[in-house]
Amino acid sequence: MGVDPGSLLLHFARNGAFAPGGTELLVLERGEGPYVFDTEGRRYIDGLSSLFCCQLGYSHGAEFAAVAGEQLERLPFNTNWATATPPAIELAGKLSALAPMEDARVFFTSGGSESVEAAWKIVRQYFVTRGEPQRTKAIARDIAYHGVTLGALSLTGVERFKAPFGTPPIPTRHVANTNPFRDERDEETRCADLLAEIEQVIAEEGAETIAALFAEPIQNAGGCLVPPAGYWAGLREICDRHGILLVADEVISGMGRLGEWFGVTRYGGEPDLVTIAKGLTSAHAAMGAAIVSGRVAAPLYEDGVTLLHGITFGGHPVAAAIALKNLEIFERDGVLENVRTLEPHLRARMEELRELPIVGDVRGDGFFFATELVRDADDGRFDAEEREHLLRGFLPGRLLEAGLIARADDRGDSVVQIAPPLNCTASQLDEVVDALRETLIDAGKFVGLPEDAAALSS
Ligand SMILES: Cc1ncc(COP(=O)(O)O)c(C=O)c1O
Repeated sequence: MGVDPGSLLLHFARNGAFAPGGTELLVLERGEGPYVFDTEGRRYIDGLSSLFCCQLGYSHGAEFAAVAGEQLERLPFNTNWATATPPAIELAGKLSALAPMEDARVFFTSGGSESVEAAWKIVRQYFVTRGEPQRTKAIARDIAYHGVTLGALSLTGVERFKAPFGTPPIPTRHVANTNPFRDERDEETRCADLLAEIEQVIAEEGAETIAALFAEPIQNAGGCLVPPAGYWAGLREICDRHGILLVADEVISGMGRLGEWFGVTRYGGEPDLVTIAKGLTSAHAAMGAAIVSGRVAAPLYEDGVTLLHGITFGGHPVAAAIALKNLEIFERDGVLENVRTLEPHLRARMEELRELPIVGDVRGDGFFFATELVRDADDGRFDAEEREHLLRGFLPGRLLEAGLIARADDRGDSVVQIAPPLNCTASQLDEVVDALRETLIDAGKFVGLPEDAAALSS
């Protein structure tokens, strides 16, 4: 039957496609554990945690409502604009203690793009007060997604998202990401080459003009691009040598997705700043943060220096109370431990998908995996028209039919990604993978591939 979106403009969607008689709009109205239910009562397992946000799934509403209610009755709002609230101060303290840098300071925002832009502005103020105002440029990576507000969009490396919007305000050079698929080099050589390219870009631009390098610990867009061993240590070394600040964008990889509070620690990264959002409240309130090392924040504490950035709702006390409860539940329920314990199981189940002819690669860490889809035994790429049919035409509907929410994406090559809630059990993870498998078998048939890889190579 379907629901008409009416006046609602859908984000990153072909709005016209949902007109009456068109694509059926998924309208969710209830959740329970890792499951969500649409307005027709159909149940789906949320293999994407509502776009990498709902780390705890959907059964903690009452606990969050209690702390939100208490805060709403005591004091519904006050800003962080030269004033504060107890939950914002307490949350900043907790995040500072968990953050992978010394004496961290926390600037709250309402979401990921705002966190990235706050990080950039704090970086700029650092260099201006330190007498290096000419450091105006950034380095980021191809296909990376750092948000789409204009500042963050400068850093985002997906050209088609940028084209209509003119010259980005932050001059940014994009370097190769860490996609290992179809790459013949061994890991060590690949890592060395990736780092050498960054050196090359720095030399071309002039090290003294570059303020920061932004990278996700594991890049989401392109499909769970795990860094090669030594990559993050290499980034640190290069940044130190050239006086560039290193920003880990942890909007997805932070808050437990990789079994760590901050994913960068898993790869030996030592960033100067970290950005978070999504999982900070497990999406029970809109909140993000730019977390800044004591060294980088130091100029902001100097006599007469004003931090020239503010977000009205940044540090909202109700959101902060919810985030504190989120951290408490993570600790109480052993959420990070659950990810660490079950990651090998999830990996093993995902690896089984390699036997499907349409699956060229399986990659990821923690509760964050992608399958890269290929058109033949030579790992051929789908062309634009095939991607249109497969990723936008066939897969979204078929995934829902299989009762699974997962993401078919071609910002880079063609991938289907999963990122289930972090408190899933082994059997719930199995449900996700089984539904994905069923869908990919049909996707293979849809593009004319045989049912098993043996038939493909014979
Ligand atoms: C790594 C990363 N940075 C920034 C953002 C932007 O976050 P938001 O959509 O909350 O503005 C995203 C969103 O998915 C992201 O994945």
